[in-house]
Amino acid sequence: MHDTLRRLHEGRRGTGTTLDRFRLNELVSQIAFGGGRRRVYRRIVSLTGVRPGDAVLDVGCSGGYLARKLADAAGPSGRVTGVDPSQAAITYARRRATRAMTFTVGVAQDLPLPDASFDAVTCTLAMHHVPARQRAAAFRDMYRVTKSGGRLLVADFDTAGRPLPLHAGGRRMRRAAATVGPLEELAAAAGYQVESTGRLPLLRYVVAIRT
Ligand SMILES: C[S@@+](CC[C@H](N)C(=O)[O-])C[C@H]1O[C@@H](n2cnc3c(N)ncnc32)[C@H](O)[C@@H]1O
Repeated sequence: MHDTLRRLHEGRRGTGTTLDRFRLNELVSQIAFGGGRRRVYRRIVSLTGVRPGDAVLDVGCSGGYLARKLADAAGPSGRVTGVDPSQAAITYARRRATRAMTFTVGVAQDLPLPDASFDAVTCTLAMHHVPARQRAAAFRDMYRVTKSGGRLLVADFDTAGRPLPLHAGGRRMRRAAATVGPLEELAAAAGYQVESTGRLPLLRYVVAIRT
């Protein structure tokens, strides 16, 4: 198992097929959560408090796994937007999108979206990918696009918890996640009012409101 992950992380041809990075992320995520990924992401959706009719943004959406769950919660009258810098991920997500979903190439620190346009903003497992010097800007831009009264949920690896698989890619990911710092401080510095913080399997999270 570790060897497969290592080969995938290093982008080598293992079985004759080359996996796109976002497919690799999907696979690593499934393995890392040990079969509990669906339950964890259901809990994330519930923490966002998304209701039917809401406009929701998922930042660092990859292939749209969480975005599709958010779309179920927002219902046919809601809309979900996913943003990710990977064109391959966005193309994949668009193929699986319902009519209420839109996917756009972009980065957290410079969202190609209008001010105050979302009732809820999520960003899961993506903040450790944002360059360290741009993380404060990423929180500020998520704040900018959140409506007054809207809610933010950011989750990233809980590096204090059970170690991730320690192949080279896992170690890199762990090191990057350890530099993210307290999510509640980043949210508060951007202007949000922190509502709660907590832990889920593998993750730590913050829920915050734009008052
Ligand atoms: C580990 S995946 C997480 C995907 C998904 N949010 C989840 O919870 O499974 C990290 C994603 O962050 C994206 N990413 C990398 N740099 C980013 C940035 N500056 N802003 C937003 N997303 C970024 C990557 O393209 C990748 O799809």
